[in-house]
Amino acid sequence: MRINPSILAADFVNLQRDIEGIATADLVHVDVMDNHFVPNLTFGPQMVGRIQDVSPIPLDVHLMIDDPDRWAPGYAELGAYSVTFHAEAAKDAVALARRLREIGARAGIALKPGTAVEPYLELLPEFDQVLVMTVEPGFGGQSFLSSTMPKLGLLRTEVARTGLDVWLQVDGGVDADTIGIAAEAGADTFVAGSAVFRGPDPAANIAALRSAAASHSH
Ligand code: DX5
Ligand code: ZN
Repeated sequence: MRINPSILAADFVNLQRDIEGIATADLVHVDVMDNHFVPNLTFGPQMVGRIQDVSPIPLDVHLMIDDPDRWAPGYAELGAYSVTFHAEAAKDAVALARRLREIGARAGIALKPGTAVEPYLELLPEFDQVLVMTVEPGFGGQSFLSSTMPKLGLLRTEVARTGLDVWLQVDGGVDADTIGIAAEAGADTFVAGSAVFRGPDPAANIAALRSAAASHSH
């Protein structure tokens, strides 16, 4: 089980300080938004490269951008541990995942709440991670959509059946209450922004999320 804090909820002008404060987490979740695929804008490869330089833990890059076929390999090349692109945006998801793996990153595919998982089940061997979005991508601080949980159930069953090492990630509205719902549904990798960076002690928030997830996981 992994807890990946989303730095979307960090202080962008004190990012190094905030990343050092989450060193007890598993990976830093880095939300790249292009103001086209989602109506919000964050940062691009230059910034992610610097985050990679200073982060004590590896990067889990979540690309909410158009044309990931063109841009995603650059994030793998700068050393991101995992690179996740959106199924809705990719022209050739399998070719892109193969390219990411070839460069040395874990390849992830993300599904918006309205995107069905069924077409991707038979493609699972091509991916190292499936991100089931539990809010509409674009902004932090939204409410967890439990309507997405059946997708995790289907994925968990398929991962168990095939024995593949595919991580099942949830992102959006994950806090100490909702994390148990996602863990029970089959998630093993949890992204949390506001729930980690709220209050004075992110490390305590990470510990609370970890124990809440552990008490509900299979
Ligand atoms: C939303 C981003 C999330 C966001 C989650 O589009 O992908 O990673 O930071 O924020 P919270 O945990 O506040 O919902
Ligand atoms: Zn994200």
